[in-house]
Amino acid sequence: MLVLGIETSCDETGVALYHTERGLLGHALYSQVALHADYGGVVPELASRDHIRRVLPLVREILGKAGSARGDLDAVAYTEGPGLAGALLVGASIAHGLAYALEIRAVGLHHLEGHLLSPLLSRPAPAFPFVALLVSGGHTQLMRVDGIGQYELLGDTLDDAAGEAFDKTAKLLGLPYPGGPALAELADSGVAGLFTLPRPMLASGDLNFSFSGLKTAVLTVINRRPLDERARADIAAEFQAAVADVLVGKSVAALRRTALKRLVVAGGVGANRLLRERLTAAARRQGFDVFYPELEFCTDNGAMIALAGAMRLQEAGSRIEDRGSRGFTVRPRWDLEQLVAPAAA
Ligand code: KG4
Ligand code: ZN
Repeated sequence: MLVLGIETSCDETGVALYHTERGLLGHALYSQVALHADYGGVVPELASRDHIRRVLPLVREILGKAGSARGDLDAVAYTEGPGLAGALLVGASIAHGLAYALEIRAVGLHHLEGHLLSPLLSRPAPAFPFVALLVSGGHTQLMRVDGIGQYELLGDTLDDAAGEAFDKTAKLLGLPYPGGPALAELADSGVAGLFTLPRPMLASGDLNFSFSGLKTAVLTVINRRPLDERARADIAAEFQAAVADVLVGKSVAALRRTALKRLVVAGGVGANRLLRERLTAAARRQGFDVFYPELEFCTDNGAMIALAGAMRLQEAGSRIEDRGSRGFTVRPRWDLEQLVAPAAA
């Protein structure tokens, strides 16, 4: 089965071709970073309009490179939510338009399910069950994953997401959008521990997170005195270390609580090098396995949506109906836990 994946939930247009026997046959990504940079964040209407321009040329490009034709497609998977309403509508409309014209199925996916399953694109792929640490711009969650659609929320952030904390702190340090990678780069030239920041909720005894206080603590340090470049780098390094400490500590606690031995890291912050180093070191010490998506599949991409769509379709068989002829909707707000296992649908 050949599945086309389309991701348009935010500021990246991602498309991919996933074959259930042959794996990922191709993918392409167009990032709108330059488009939004002047505004210091994503402008939803500009994002939607740009997705309209990008999706079909990118689909043509990956089909051509893979030596496939539209007629070879068996299904189109797209991100149904959560995300920006207008941006989601572009992907959903194009997916349903293609599906209707080609008389194939269209399947709407949860964006976070895509992130959650993205390490399955790598080899070796993790087997179920596993604990997933989902760290993106909008979410910071620990989930127990027993199979496709079988997700149990173990812990969540009470306020800002980890990626959001990276982005807001980067802004405080005068770094350009998108802040996460810029802050991580600045941290490389700094030393952690010279400034001290809290490790919020590390000892709370549950698996929840809170990152907004960390950002406020950075603001307090910044307001105390003028900072030279070295001090900014030291603050960035300490901030990154604080976030990594909390994420590692809670992940280890989640593995202990569930008695599972596999940790999967997903979402944009999963690209962070220090976080990976510390998780890998903890895994060696504590005797668990940790799985990461390829760096290019950590942040938003079409491959994770094509893969998730293929897995859903394989699992559910004909139970996923083609809704193309009956209209469709998008879900800008959508809890991952509301997804039901296909077997129970
Ligand atoms: O998963 P993602 O691409 O989009 C969402 O679904 O939110 O995650 C984007 C988030 C942003 O907050 C970005 O700053 C952060 O991931 N991010 C990073 C790094 N690369 C991306 N944060 C820390 N270190 C990085 N290397
Ligand atoms: Zn994402």
